[in-house]
Amino acid sequence: MKTTGGSAEQKRRAGEKAVEYVSDGDIVGLGTGSTAAAAIDALGDAVAAGYDIHGVPTSFATRDRAIEAGIPLTRIEVVDHIDVAIDGSDEINNNLTLIKGGGAAHAREKVIDATADQFIVVADESKLVETLSEPVPVSTLPMAQKPVKRRLDSLGATTTLRSATMKDGPVITDNGNIVFDCAFGHIENAEALAKSLAEIPGTVAHGLFVNLADIACIGTENGTNVYHGDQDQGQN
Ligand code: A5P
Repeated sequence: MKTTGGSAEQKRRAGEKAVEYVSDGDIVGLGTGSTAAAAIDALGDAVAAGYDIHGVPTSFATRDRAIEAGIPLTRIEVVDHIDVAIDGSDEINNNLTLIKGGGAAHAREKVIDATADQFIVVADESKLVETLSEPVPVSTLPMAQKPVKRRLDSLGATTTLRSATMKDGPVITDNGNIVFDCAFGHIENAEALAKSLAEIPGTVAHGLFVNLADIACIGTENGTNVYHGDQDQGQN
């Protein structure tokens, strides 16, 4: 699994804090990435202690991790709601707007995070930024590669087709799509950019998550900071 940012300890703290928001009986969206994996491990401990929860995985990798952790799984197709989703992020600003998709799982993540009654983002403190500026991943139908690239370029992006490692050619997502990483520099209006990206025919999902996260659990050197969408924050 790729890992970026802060230490495993910070990620563990963030993951464990988020699991405090899970109640016995909940259906839980399981995000992808190294910090979400820390939450999955903590959820596995809760299951071992007797919690009756069911996980909805956002990727192939997360499904495997959840099985290893002993979490019973279900599918979004057969549940009528998700109580809480716990997912990582590549960048988080102070409105809890996110850039996700470093692991190319953002399409399924967005469906599951947006479906949840409560979406908790987990990260180490290196992910907190004043202004979003990481390249925005845009998953795209393979047949639409050329026209989508032209439209992304016309929005001012420097676009890079994400290449696989240990395989010649592009990364292919769990849904069979390619991914453009789109550098826009500092993103001053994420909401407007999100709309523009979503309007391009052939795009499947972009990695800007606007108005979706309710709470951020941020692992630090000394503990966990909890931020709410309304800007309240506190040290725990
Ligand atoms: C997966 O595609 C991503 O959205 C991850 O959730 C994101 O890259 C954060 O991953 P880490 O917790 O490993 O940094």
